[in-house]
Amino acid sequence: MPETTDRLGTDAGGIARAAAIWRAGGLVAFPTETVYGLGADACNDRAVAGIFEAKARPRFNPLIVHVDSVARAREVVAWPEAADRLSEAFWPGPLTLVLPLRAGAGLSPLVTAGLDTVAVRVPAHPVARALLAAFGGPVAAPSANPSGRISPTSPAHVLAGLDGRIAAVVEGGACEVGLESTILGLADAPVLLRPGGVPVEALEAALGCAVPAQDASTAPTAPGQMRSHYAPGSPVRLGAEAARPGEVMLGFGPVAGDLTLSARGDLVEAAANLFGHLHALDAKGAAGIAVAPVPEAGLGRAINDRLRRAAAPKG
Ligand code: TXA
Ligand code: MG
Repeated sequence: MPETTDRLGTDAGGIARAAAIWRAGGLVAFPTETVYGLGADACNDRAVAGIFEAKARPRFNPLIVHVDSVARAREVVAWPEAADRLSEAFWPGPLTLVLPLRAGAGLSPLVTAGLDTVAVRVPAHPVARALLAAFGGPVAAPSANPSGRISPTSPAHVLAGLDGRIAAVVEGGACEVGLESTILGLADAPVLLRPGGVPVEALEAALGCAVPAQDASTAPTAPGQMRSHYAPGSPVRLGAEAARPGEVMLGFGPVAGDLTLSARGDLVEAAANLFGHLHALDAKGAAGIAVAPVPEAGLGRAINDRLRRAAAPKG
C-alpha cells in the first residue's frame, strides 16, 4: 500500500519520531556504519512481515537483530565466552554474531526464519545507536533496498528503492564502511558465514584460532536453504482445499483451518502468522498438516517458498 515516506533528521525530534514509528509497528530506514538498514520491531510479527513485503523478498531469509549494547544482545541469545572476546574487540562495529536463540526472548519467528539461532550486532553509527537506545528493544533490519538490488549507502539510495513503501528514512548521510557486516557463526565452532566490514584475520587474532569459511559444498546457496532450516515433524500437504482424516488444517482466505493464516486473505497477516501457526499445528502431532492454497504473488511467493521447503521430503 503506498504511503508517504517521511524524511527525518538526526536531531532529538527525528530520533524520537523514528522510535515511535517502530513502537507502532512501522518501518524506518536508518543509517548504520555499513549500509542503511530497514528496521522494524523484532518482536512484532506484522512489522517484521512488513519488511519482507516492502523489499519484495522472494524468501524469508533470516534477519539481523540490531541492539544498542551487549547487555541487550544477551537478552536474546545464549552467550559463549568467545562472544565476550569478539564483542570487546569489535562492538560496536561491523560484526554480526550468529548465536543460539535464547528461549523466551520474544523475537518474531520471522526474524530467525524459524531457525534456533539469531544473528545479532551492535552497530557503531551514532545515529543507529541513538535510535536503538530510544526504542529500547531489538530491531530487525536487512539492508534497505528492494530484493535483488544493491545495498544502499545513502538516504537517496534508500528513497530510490523504497519511497512510498516505508514510513520513514532517517537521513544520516553516507555510510562509512559501505559494505555489510562480517557474519560469524558461533553456535558451534567459529565459521565465517559472510565476509564483510571486519576482516577474518582480525577475528582469528581475537579468537586465537582459525576461522574457516563455510564449506562451499555444504553452504546454502541462499540462507533459506540452510539444512538446519525449520521443517515440521508432521508431513505437509500443500494446495489442500480440506483436511483429510487425521490431518490438521492450516487455512488461508476462504479455506478455514484449525488455524488460519489470514481469513481475509491478507498476505502480510499471513506471513506474520506463518511460522507461529506451523509450530502450533506441528505440536498437535497429527498425521499430517494440510495447507490451503496461497496466491503466488507479492508476499505470497515468500510464503509459498517457505511452505514448499516445509513440505519437501526430509533427508
Ligand atoms: O551490515 C549489515 O549487516 C546490514 C546492516 C543493515 O546491519 N544488514 C544486512 O542484512 O546486511 P541482510 O538481511 O541484507 O543480510 C543478513 C544476512 C542474511 O544473508 C542471512 O543469511 C544472515 O544474515 N543471517 C541472519 N540470521 C542468520 C542465522 N540465524 N544464521 C545464519 N545466517 C543468518
Ligand atoms: Mg542485503
